[in-house]
Amino acid sequence: MLLEDKNALVMGAGSGVGAATALRFAQEGAKVVCADIRLDGAEETVRRIQAAGGTAVAVRCDVSREQDTIDAVRTVVDEFGRLDIVFNNVGVPTPRLGDKLEDHTVEDFQRLVAVNFGGVFLGCKQAVIQFKRQGGGGVILNTGSVAGLVAWGGSVYGATKGAVHQLTKAVAIEGAPFGIRANAICPAGMPYTNFMAAGGLAGPPDAMAKVAEQTAQTHPLGRAITAEDCAEAAVYLVSDRAANVTGALLPVDGGYVAR
Ligand SMILES: NC(=O)c1ccc[n+]([C@@H]2O[C@H](COP(=O)([O-])OP(=O)(O)OC[C@H]3O[C@@H](n4cnc5c(N)ncnc54)[C@H](O)[C@@H]3O)[C@@H](O)[C@H]2O)c1
Repeated sequence: MLLEDKNALVMGAGSGVGAATALRFAQEGAKVVCADIRLDGAEETVRRIQAAGGTAVAVRCDVSREQDTIDAVRTVVDEFGRLDIVFNNVGVPTPRLGDKLEDHTVEDFQRLVAVNFGGVFLGCKQAVIQFKRQGGGGVILNTGSVAGLVAWGGSVYGATKGAVHQLTKAVAIEGAPFGIRANAICPAGMPYTNFMAAGGLAGPPDAMAKVAEQTAQTHPLGRAITAEDCAEAAVYLVSDRAANVTGALLPVDGGYVAR
C-alpha cells in the first residue's frame, strides 16, 4: 500500500486518466476526493472505489473557477483532516481536433487557456496554500502532454501544456524548501478515454480501434497509451518512492518523444 494514510484530490476524476488514477490511489490506501465538472462522472468513480472497499467522496468542480478549487480543497480537509496529494489532471482538447492555428476562434483560445492552464494554476495555488497552512509538505502532480514537449495535437492545446510543464518546474523549485514536490506526467494520444470525443473525434468502436492502431504505430513500443498506464506513473510520482523526485516531466508515450 503505497499511499496508506494519504488524502488525495483528483481533478477530472469522472473519466479517463482521472478515473483510473483515483481508483489506483484508493487501491494503494489513499482516501480520495473525486472532483469533476460532471458530478455524475465523479459519483460513478466514487461508486467504483467504494465497491472495491475504498474511501472516496465526489464533488462538482470546474477547475477554471477559483472558488470551485478552494471548495474542493476544503472538502478534502473537512472530510479527511488534511490534504496530502493534488492531481491537476483536467485538460480539454482543441474543440475540433485537427484544426490549424488559424482555425481557432478567440473563444477557443480563451477556453483552452482557462481550463488547461488556468485550471492547473488554480489547483497548484490552492494546494500550495493548504500545504503551507497545515505544514509537513505535500505532493502536486499535473497532467501535461507530449503536445507540450513537441509540436503535436494542436498548436494552442500544445502551448497550454507547455505552460503546464513550466509551471510544474517553477512550483517544484518554489515548493522545495517547504517539502512540496511537483511533477507532471506527459501522455501521448490515448484513444480509449473520452478526450478524443470531446474534440469531435468519435465513432463506432471499430473506427476507434483503427484510431488506436494508427496511434500505436507512431510509438516505438507499438502499443496505444491507456489511462491505466498514466495511473501507474501517477501512483509512483505521488508516493514516497519518489520522495527525491521533483520538477520532472515524465513522458508516458511508448517512446514517442525519445526518437
Ligand atoms: N487522451 C489523450 O489523447 C491525451 C493525450 C495527452 C494528454 N492528455 C491529457 O490527459 C488528461 C486527461 O484526459 P483524458 O484523456 O482522461 O480525458 P477525458 O475527457 O476522458 O477526461 C477528462 C475529464 O475532465 C473533466 N473536465 C473537463 N473540463 C473540466 C473542468 N473545467 N473542470 C473539471 N473537470 C473538467 C471531464 O468531465 C472528464 O471527466 C488531460 O489533461 C488531457 O489534456 C490526454
